[in-house]
Amino acid sequence: MPVILGIESSCDDTAAAVLVDGYVRSNIIANQEVHKHYGGVVPELAARAHLQHIIPVVDQALDKANIDKKEVNAVAYTLGPGLMGSLLVANSFAKSLAMSLEVPLIEVNHMQAHLLVHFEKSTPNPSFPFLGLTVSGGHTQLVLVTAPDQMKVIGQTLDDAIGEAFDKAGKMLGLPYPAGPYIDHYAQRGTPNIPFSIPKVPDLDFSFSGFKTNVLYFLRKQQELDKNFITDQRNNLCASIQSTLIRIVMEKLEKAVDQTGVNQIVLGGGVSANSGLRKALAKRKEWNVFIPPLTFTTDNAAMIAVAGHFKYQHNHFGKLTSQSQSRMSL
Ligand code: KG4
Ligand code: ZN
Repeated sequence: MPVILGIESSCDDTAAAVLVDGYVRSNIIANQEVHKHYGGVVPELAARAHLQHIIPVVDQALDKANIDKKEVNAVAYTLGPGLMGSLLVANSFAKSLAMSLEVPLIEVNHMQAHLLVHFEKSTPNPSFPFLGLTVSGGHTQLVLVTAPDQMKVIGQTLDDAIGEAFDKAGKMLGLPYPAGPYIDHYAQRGTPNIPFSIPKVPDLDFSFSGFKTNVLYFLRKQQELDKNFITDQRNNLCASIQSTLIRIVMEKLEKAVDQTGVNQIVLGGGVSANSGLRKALAKRKEWNVFIPPLTFTTDNAAMIAVAGHFKYQHNHFGKLTSQSQSRMSL
C-alpha cells in the first residue's frame, strides 16, 4: 500500500497530492492571483509565489489525506517541462523532503502525467494502446501511448498552444488571464455565428497563430464600424472562438484515429476542462473516450503522484543530482 506524495510547480500553480494505493486521498492547489494583473504568467513572480506556497500546500495535502509525513513511501515531483524558476522550487523541496524522510524520489514528466492521471483507481482506466490528446497552456499534442513510459508524439503545434489561443483571443476581448474559463462561460450563452478560418496544416500538426491574427483583424474591422461591438457581441464572439478551436482539434483527432486505427482517446491538460470540447468528445460514440474529472484537468499534483506510482512499482527512482528541465520530451 504505497503512499506517494506528489509535488508540482511547473508553471503558476503550486500543488501537492497524496496517493494511497493508487487512490487520490488529497489534491491541493494554490493558484497564483498575482499574474492576473499582468495578463500572463510572470516567471520571476511565479517562482517567488511557489516558495511561499509550497510548505503550506504540502502540509494541507498531508493533513487532508490524514497521513503523517513519516508514512510517505516516496516523493514524486515534476522534473519538467515548465518554467525553470518554477520547476526549481518543487525540485529542491522534493529532494530535501525525500532526504530527510529517507525515502526515494521519483521524477515525473508533466506532459506524461496529464495523460497518466487517468490511471487513478477511482476513475475509469484506459488500456494500452491509446491516443492521448494533451491540450494546455503550453502544449497541444497528439500522442500514441503504448505503455506508461512509451509515448510517441504523432502531432503537435508548430507555434502557439491551444490554451494560448484561448488566452490571447480572450485578452483581445478584454477578459482576465487566463481567459480560457471565461470564454467557456460566455460561449455557453452565445451562438457560434462568426466563421473564423480553420488553418490548413499538414499531417497531424496544429497551428494557432493564424487563428489569433484572424480574430485580431476581425475585431479591429468590426470596432471601426461599431465601437461597442466587443461588449455587445461578447457571447457570440466567445462561442465562435471556442467552436473554431474545438473544430481544429476534432478534425486532427479524426485523422489520427484513421491513421493509427486506435480509437481509445484519452484527454488531458488544462483545456480539457472546456465544456464544449468535453461535449464534442462525449458525442463520439464510435470512440472510447476518457475525459478527466475537472480536478485533474488544469495543473495538479494528483497527476504527478499517479504517474509516479507507475515508476514506484518498477523501482524507477530519481537522483539527487537531477536537474530541472524546462524542455523535456515525452
Ligand atoms: O494544463 P494547464 O493548467 O497549464 C499548462 O500546463 O499550461 O493549462 C492552462 C490552460 C490555460 O491556457 C487556460 O486558459 C486553459 O488551460 N483552460 C481552459 C479552460 N480551463 C483552463 N481553456 C478553455 N476552457 C476552459 N474551461
Ligand atoms: Zn499542464
